[in-house]
Amino acid sequence: MVHRAISVHLRDGEPARRRLVREGWLDISLRPKTQGDRLYLPVHPNTPEVLDIGVAYEWVTAVFEERPRKPTSLREAPGLPPELASEVTRSMDVIGDVAVLRLKDDIRPRASEIGRALMEVHPRLRAVAIDDGVHGELRVRSLTIIAGEGPLVTTHREHGMELRVDLEQAYFSPRLATEHRRVADQVMPGERVLDMFSGVGPFAVLVARSAQPSQVHAVDLNEVAVRLVEENARSNGVDELVTAHLGDAREVVPDLGVFDRIIMNHPHGARDFLDVALGASGSGTVIHLHLIGALEESDEAADEACRIASDLGHGGVKVDLKREVRTYSPGVLHWCLDLTVLE
Ligand SMILES: C[S@@+](CC[C@H](N)C(=O)[O-])C[C@H]1O[C@@H](n2cnc3c(N)ncnc32)[C@H](O)[C@@H]1O
Repeated sequence: MVHRAISVHLRDGEPARRRLVREGWLDISLRPKTQGDRLYLPVHPNTPEVLDIGVAYEWVTAVFEERPRKPTSLREAPGLPPELASEVTRSMDVIGDVAVLRLKDDIRPRASEIGRALMEVHPRLRAVAIDDGVHGELRVRSLTIIAGEGPLVTTHREHGMELRVDLEQAYFSPRLATEHRRVADQVMPGERVLDMFSGVGPFAVLVARSAQPSQVHAVDLNEVAVRLVEENARSNGVDELVTAHLGDAREVVPDLGVFDRIIMNHPHGARDFLDVALGASGSGTVIHLHLIGALEESDEAADEACRIASDLGHGGVKVDLKREVRTYSPGVLHWCLDLTVLE
């Protein structure tokens, strides 16, 4: 097919090309070509007749070769059926320069093909890994690299923070970003805040950066997570506000005093630590209790918190909010209960 183009002397080619790109007139889907000492630059049909491009030019028409177009979404990746591409996109998280995917058993045999396609479509990815879920007390993720290169240590941006994460050795999920923000937004100036199961510190560092707490204490049993909280507090300029503690919350927290706000984001285990949190609470302390289960279990947890609070001499707890954080598995939800300790 014949296209409209301008012809410039070869020595004027680069300035002319740059000027056409800047104005949005160059048709970059076609390859420019040379004819003797002239360069032909194909332009879009809406390019004006008279151009101010700083060099002499003539109008010509010519046939141009199309540039092969790189796919920009997985649905355009050669060889992947669109329904497979949609499923992969839905199950994928991008953390820093690493993509993490949950793949159903029936599509696992195609893992390397999917990994290669993702790296091609998202050139900034360094690695693609399959996620087989989080396990054990430290909630670390089982990951297998299917394309690119490890280590699976990367820097993730969330709400203006730069968080160093080690995806194989300490818990982190970008799916909690809204919850991190929601909790940090409630912190009032001067509060003493305890992040009882801090992981690499997304709550602790965000609270310290975006609110005006007097102190933030972050506790975790995982040595790698605690090292990363310290690194993240430093790199985000809040190391004077955040103190990280390595150890079991049951042993560490009783020595830390009373808090205005306690974040309990360990949905599989936090309920067993209600006595510890309520022991570090005063009248008006707000507890963000995360748990996994059906709706009834969140009601039971609120009743249990009330009982333990009364046993410890408080006037019970009030449920300010019961929020579905996300679906954990079919019929099972990740909840957050915001509780206020009563006098
Ligand atoms: C779901 S992760 C929390 C992540 C973090 N709050 C976030 O938003 O990324 C739960 C964390 O609790 C920690 N943990 C488990 N048992 C603990 C305990 N007894 N004392 C302190 N930390 C504990 C794990 O090491 C893990 O980092």
